[in-house]
Amino acid sequence: MDRSTSIPLLAFASLLVACTADDQRTERGPDITYVMDPHSHARPSEAVITHLELDIRADLEAHRIEGSATYDIRSNGADRIIFDTDGLEIAAVERPDGTPLRHALGDSTFMGRPLTVQLPTGTDRITIRYRTGPDARALQWLSKEQTLGKRHPFLFTQGQAILTRSWIPVQDSPGIRFTYTATVQAPAGTIALMSATNPQEKRADGRYTFRMDQPIPAYLMALAIGDLAFAPLGDRSGVYAEPELLEKAAWEFADTEPMLVAAEELYGPYRWERYDVLVLPPSFPFGGMENPRLTFATPTIIAGDRSLTALIAHEMAHSWSGNLVTNATWNDFWLNEGFTVYFENRICEAIYGPDYARMHHLLGHQDLHRTVEKLNAEGLAADTRLRLDLSGRDPDDGVTDIAYEKGYAFLRLLEEKAGREKFDAFLRGYFEEHAFQSMTTDRFLELLRSELIIPLGIDIDIAEWVDGEGVPADEVVPVSDRFEKVDAERDAWLKGRSAGELATSAWTTQEWLHFLRGLPRDLGAPRMAELDKAFELTGTGNSEILAAWLELGIANDYAPSAARLAEFLTSVGRRKFLVPLYTRLVATEKGRIKAREIYRVARPGYHSVSVRTLDELLAWKEGGTPVDF
Ligand code: BES
Ligand code: ZN
Repeated sequence: MDRSTSIPLLAFASLLVACTADDQRTERGPDITYVMDPHSHARPSEAVITHLELDIRADLEAHRIEGSATYDIRSNGADRIIFDTDGLEIAAVERPDGTPLRHALGDSTFMGRPLTVQLPTGTDRITIRYRTGPDARALQWLSKEQTLGKRHPFLFTQGQAILTRSWIPVQDSPGIRFTYTATVQAPAGTIALMSATNPQEKRADGRYTFRMDQPIPAYLMALAIGDLAFAPLGDRSGVYAEPELLEKAAWEFADTEPMLVAAEELYGPYRWERYDVLVLPPSFPFGGMENPRLTFATPTIIAGDRSLTALIAHEMAHSWSGNLVTNATWNDFWLNEGFTVYFENRICEAIYGPDYARMHHLLGHQDLHRTVEKLNAEGLAADTRLRLDLSGRDPDDGVTDIAYEKGYAFLRLLEEKAGREKFDAFLRGYFEEHAFQSMTTDRFLELLRSELIIPLGIDIDIAEWVDGEGVPADEVVPVSDRFEKVDAERDAWLKGRSAGELATSAWTTQEWLHFLRGLPRDLGAPRMAELDKAFELTGTGNSEILAAWLELGIANDYAPSAARLAEFLTSVGRRKFLVPLYTRLVATEKGRIKAREIYRVARPGYHSVSVRTLDELLAWKEGGTPVDF
């Protein structure tokens, strides 16, 4: 069976040339041209959804969402429409008048099961009654004991990349956009929030309604339910968190409104009306998720000194790169993330200055080269390409520093070659002209060539950057005086100066990270202890510094940080922190035993996204017993 699908590429196909890449088939839909999406069963060239009316109840005790999804459909005269589902139980499919419609679920793969619904002529609206399965991959259900306040259970969703289909039957392809309204019945005492217009106060009956009037792809559908309170940050921005954390969160994110202003000055108006941030429990598997109007964020960025707020700049930047102009398929993921890292850096430069931006760039540059080495060592050199081929694989495999940091490096080089003014004008036009559309790598390169490369006579090997492996030699590497000073202090300490004499008092989080990353991995426990005594690193409340320190602790068998490591791994579910720590642990026999011991306890508290990655890393067998190494 052909599992490829097609997704809208351009709003007015008649005015535009269809995609020309050899490997990207296109087909014509109702009034749009589509490019094949290998990660969805939908066939939008036959029929697409244009609006969703969701009416659901969330049972936080039984761990189920149940209700109906009613769709407006635009069809090309086809007699069927295909949805994506994953683990959903379909109770009925009906026309608005209640007439049942014939439907069938296909075979199950890592992409879930296609739901094919027969459409009698003239059917342009259907209702699907359904409920979620017990292991819905998008959902994390937390008991009240797993929350800060311990008063109410908590639920949150994570849709990207192909998980929305596990809580809503939907055409789950980033190029298929629809508007939505929703009614959510939540337990009394909780508030429900979505990627839509949101309440700022609890309702006694737990019933909430939502609207999203701008068309969005399915991966941006989002829901959270819990004991949450709201604090405003500006006229159009605010933060939601558990009441215990609200004040700290509001202080930490005070730069949100200035960041919005900076972003608009760079690349045009914010098109989503409000920008709010929801602070999730620490099991959230990502740093942040750009759900429109409501960024989902990990509490691990609340450091108490506003030093980790680049993450807010990043998720906010997605309001342009990703949510307005969306990668057409997950093979084009770098169009979402590389652009967003670039935009994030520009917002940070505007708010925190060029020194900060340079250090931010250099840390990303270090991540990139580490990732290239790692992928090469694993025999995955093909995954160091910007343009990926993820057909037949979970798109989550494409979530590496390549899309983020190599994507950034490519754009940073283009900025250098075109000059900032011209590059900014190009990007402004890009977001304006392609707003609410999807974009392929080929189409972007066409625009780049005709608007920048050719007119300005720019000399750059685009094919090497986009389809080549590794990082081309013309990458821009900034010089940071502040990092050079850190290097000098590190050298001095390694050569014998005492830790107490190092000039660290003005160091920011970035300088500490650079210091720690540059230390030899085989420092030895006594020297670790010396640093710990002088700087209390095992006790730091900064999650980024702690993660880097704990990694060194494992490598050096530094006993005093072991308890903190176990505590961190059992309380935080952010994959970016978990993967390097468990990876280091499993490198030795003793560490492997420790890793299994910790994972057995921690696993039930992790989201499925982190579980999938870690089960593989630890060769963990379903049911809780580890496979023999
Ligand atoms: N959209 C991503 C998170 C994501 C990517 C979820 C792919 C699922 C599949 C988000 O914007 C992101 O990049 N988060 C980063 C933040 C960082 C780069 C500032 C994260 O979670 O670490
Ligand atoms: Zn991102």
